[in-house]
Amino acid sequence: MKPVAVRSFSPALGALWLVAAQAMAAPDDAAMLKLATGSGCMTCHHVEPGAKGPDGLPPIGPAWRDVAVKYKGQSGAEKQLTATVLAGSNPYDSHWKGKVSGLAMPPNRVAISEPDARRLVQWILNRDANRP
Ligand code: HEC
Repeated sequence: MKPVAVRSFSPALGALWLVAAQAMAAPDDAAMLKLATGSGCMTCHHVEPGAKGPDGLPPIGPAWRDVAVKYKGQSGAEKQLTATVLAGSNPYDSHWKGKVSGLAMPPNRVAISEPDARRLVQWILNRDANRP
């Protein structure tokens, strides 16, 4: 009796779990992409690696999945990257030299608030390869 009951129940539970997981992930992703687009980030960045920039050159800024992989497990990355997003990057100390066609990131302080920049950076740092 028991194994039959378990077997007939598990697909339904599995489907429920999947729906719940998607429902939890999707609104955050949509909100973050909206914030990034509204703040001008997507002019220079993509989420997925491999996209080309204008004229077929490498993209202007690094793909955010690549950013997540580069800084994975580094303490202080969130604070440091939030500061870089707000103040811009140093063209003499490029972190993505040779991989992107942009020389430096301009300051984004006029386009995004500090709390929003921090939330976006947290989300970017969670885009590593294990995530959909
Ligand atoms: C005008 C183009 C441009 C815009 C707009 C832009 N970026 Fe960038 N971004 C770049 C470039 C170029 C780099 C690479 C800098 C480097 O090599 O150090 C970069 C790097 C980054 C990095 C990694 C920094 C590091 O030190 O590794 C993050 C995170 C980032 N951008 C997030 C954002 C966010 C969030 C926004 C929107 C608020 C944004 N960017 C808007 C061009 C841009």
